[in-house]
Amino acid sequence: MKVLVIGQGGREHALVWKLAQSPEVTKVFCAPGNAGTGKDGENVPIADDDIPALLQFAQNEKIDLTIPGPEVPLVMGIVDEFKKAGLKIFGPSKAAAQLEGSKTFAKDVMTRAKIPTADYESFDDLEAAEFYLKERYGGGFRAEEPISIEDEQAWFRQPKSGRSPVMNQPIVVKADGLAAGKGVKVCATYQEALDFVRECLSGNAFGEAGARVIIEDFLEGAEASILAIVDGKTIIPLEASQDHKAAHDGDTGPNTGGMGAYCPTPVVDAEMMDKITQTILVPVVHEMKRRGCNFSGVLYAGLMIDQLGNPKVLEFNVRFGDPETQPVLMRLKSDLFKLLDAAASGTLRDFEEIEWDSRPAVCVVMASQGYPGSYKKGYPIRGLDAVPNTSELKVFHAGTKVEGGEIVNSGGRVLGVTAMGKDLNEAKLNAYARVKMIRWEGAWCRKDISDKARLYVEQEE
Ligand code: AMP
Ligand code: GLY
Repeated sequence: MKVLVIGQGGREHALVWKLAQSPEVTKVFCAPGNAGTGKDGENVPIADDDIPALLQFAQNEKIDLTIPGPEVPLVMGIVDEFKKAGLKIFGPSKAAAQLEGSKTFAKDVMTRAKIPTADYESFDDLEAAEFYLKERYGGGFRAEEPISIEDEQAWFRQPKSGRSPVMNQPIVVKADGLAAGKGVKVCATYQEALDFVRECLSGNAFGEAGARVIIEDFLEGAEASILAIVDGKTIIPLEASQDHKAAHDGDTGPNTGGMGAYCPTPVVDAEMMDKITQTILVPVVHEMKRRGCNFSGVLYAGLMIDQLGNPKVLEFNVRFGDPETQPVLMRLKSDLFKLLDAAASGTLRDFEEIEWDSRPAVCVVMASQGYPGSYKKGYPIRGLDAVPNTSELKVFHAGTKVEGGEIVNSGGRVLGVTAMGKDLNEAKLNAYARVKMIRWEGAWCRKDISDKARLYVEQEE
């Protein structure tokens, strides 16, 4: 079987690597790919959003299964185009991809299906958004400062919509559309929230994607990522993982695409996974079916689980997570090609039980200096061949390319060093020992990937 993976990040390298291990697979192409996918598969110089060229390639090469990695081609409707041409593809239709493509759509699905999520309102009008911010979050006051009697009285005199106010908490503002992971801001003050809403609605920050915003309550708890394989009817959740979105140790600094992940996570035990399946995954798949846009592909639920053990949805994505995919797939013992092919064929119900390596895996992302802001490219990366890659220790490439015979950095997140160990601590040590052997100018990483698991367990005890 010939497979085409679309995309160029660490997630795509992990997909290519795992798919190439299937006895059914004879060839894995990756468009456009990176230096790592070019080694484990064959790169094709077509951009991930050039749907006509991707379709032409898949037809010419007689590709048996196509797997888009990123959200952009999915939201553009690549699945509909491939299916129209009679080609098999794993992923949601354009209509179903709205679950990630529009946060307002996702919230609407959640409200309708009674799926727990943060209270919110959606706005395309600045005045209405400003009024809501004031009303709900006591606008005009720094949330963390004590409020004067005069301020408080002024606040109570304002017209109200019946919503009870939320004070002394951050305010979360999200651009409605796709913004490459940059469209979410957790704001400490009313003013910061208002400024971000303005930036979005003015069209300056995210163009069309920011023409509508969601303002939602801040949720506290432990985060977890659930990746479930769905064929429209049957849902197979993969083992849960935890991402590290903040740039710096201790979850400080700006949001990034994800600086590391580990799998499994103690935040989601078997009982919790059952609860998540019953209260979130099943209702969303039913609701999508009711709307006439059956969901097929990866249903990614980004969750916040509170201290009482109640999971709430932060976001839905319609694709594999990056970097979660790296540790999840390292632990997957079942044939990934068979699993995704069954989902694309609508036959997941007949899929045998998924097998996992019991050892945990940790992925540490190494990034370019300056990321998530601007950074320089083109520095040669040393130490990639210091030890061979194995099934339990693998350097996944993300922002890399071959230039003048050398592998150089070409993106913000450059490598995802992933390792297993007999326990989480050993997996972490193995990953960081490998990180130490790799260098390029300005390379950096978080030093605490997977420590949240230990802290969580200590807190629970
Ligand atoms: P999202 O892309 O919607 O998952 O948001 C990116 C990150 O912002 C999440 O991984 C959380 O760390 C944080 N976040 C988003 N929504 C909320 C919320 N309602 N409460 C607290 N943190 C949030
Ligand atoms: N790691 C977060 C994401 O893939 O959206």
